[in-house]
Amino acid sequence: MASPARMGAAALMVALAVLALAGGSAASLQYGFYKGKCNSSDVEAVVQSIVKARFAREAPIVAYLLRMQFHECVINGCDGGLLIDGPGTEKTAPPNLSVKGYDVIAAIKAELERRCPGVVSCSDIQILAARDAIALAGGPMYSVRTGRRDGRRSRASDANLPGIDFTAAQAVAYYGKLGLSAFDTVLLLGAHTVGVTHCSVIKSRLYSYGGKTGATDPKLDPYYAFVYKTWVCPNTPSSDGNVVFLDDQWSALRVDNNYYKNIQRRRGVLPVDQNLYNDGSTRWIVDLLANDAGLFRSVFPNALVKLSEVNVLTGTQGEIRKVCNKFN
Ligand code: HEM
Repeated sequence: MASPARMGAAALMVALAVLALAGGSAASLQYGFYKGKCNSSDVEAVVQSIVKARFAREAPIVAYLLRMQFHECVINGCDGGLLIDGPGTEKTAPPNLSVKGYDVIAAIKAELERRCPGVVSCSDIQILAARDAIALAGGPMYSVRTGRRDGRRSRASDANLPGIDFTAAQAVAYYGKLGLSAFDTVLLLGAHTVGVTHCSVIKSRLYSYGGKTGATDPKLDPYYAFVYKTWVCPNTPSSDGNVVFLDDQWSALRVDNNYYKNIQRRRGVLPVDQNLYNDGSTRWIVDLLANDAGLFRSVFPNALVKLSEVNVLTGTQGEIRKVCNKFN
């Protein structure tokens, strides 16, 4: 039998391990952080009702908010930095110019400021709004911890977004630096189950693959290549702004696992999407998620929650902005 001293030491080790885990960057985030803090209002219900109203008239809001969460959290953490207006802020960095949905965040903030000024952070609103939109678009509903504070830094030069040509290994390494696993990486790219890109982004795959004029990416399903070249993105500058659905058109507003089925069929739109299937180290994850819609539903939130807790500010750090597009 272990001596009392050894048992005491073991208990101390366990206690230290628990403390170390709890002491991560998200230490003060809590479920229901705003309960009882906004007079008689239920903060999460207010966010949800505004997102619901917006979703009813503009379903692509789900894609805007999901992408916003990604661009928000990978640039210096989920601190609302993307929302700041002005020269040289995160919002002005080239990859962020096509991020949308700022107005719905501003509308939610205005309503919450009316109900309880200075209480709810813009960064929490972003995470809650994306969560609610995902559920409205047929995806899973999940709990998120709140209590994020808004940052006082927003610089375009911090915007180090991944490239569309990233190999699977590069994508995994990119998210790895943020504490996410290869599995999380494949899950997160599943966000391309909704939304669109534009012909300008994929034209090199269609017409000058590998720098060779006239070459088409052999990793793209030839039938899809034909459809894109003939109807969606003809080889003229005027087609640059044409919309290309990241998932099949009929599924482009639904959060489901169809994205993975597409990449199994070589129909991934961005090279990085297709690369997840072409690389043996991530292919098995794609297969798993493509073949089990229920699994995707149950684990997609894990990756989104991890993303939503990257480098958050809590406690007395940062501030609670009065409006989301300006520091106090
Ligand atoms: C290697 C990682 C990624 C790359 C290279 C990438 C790249 C892109 C590009 C180029 C677009 C199209 C932009 C345009 O044409 O306007 C796009 C759209 C989108 N991305 Fe990603 N993305 C990545 C990861 C993610 C992640 C992690 C999420 C969310 C968790 C996400 C969510 C979205 C959504 C929802 C859209 C559609 C936006 C809309 O319809 O307005 N992406 N992405």
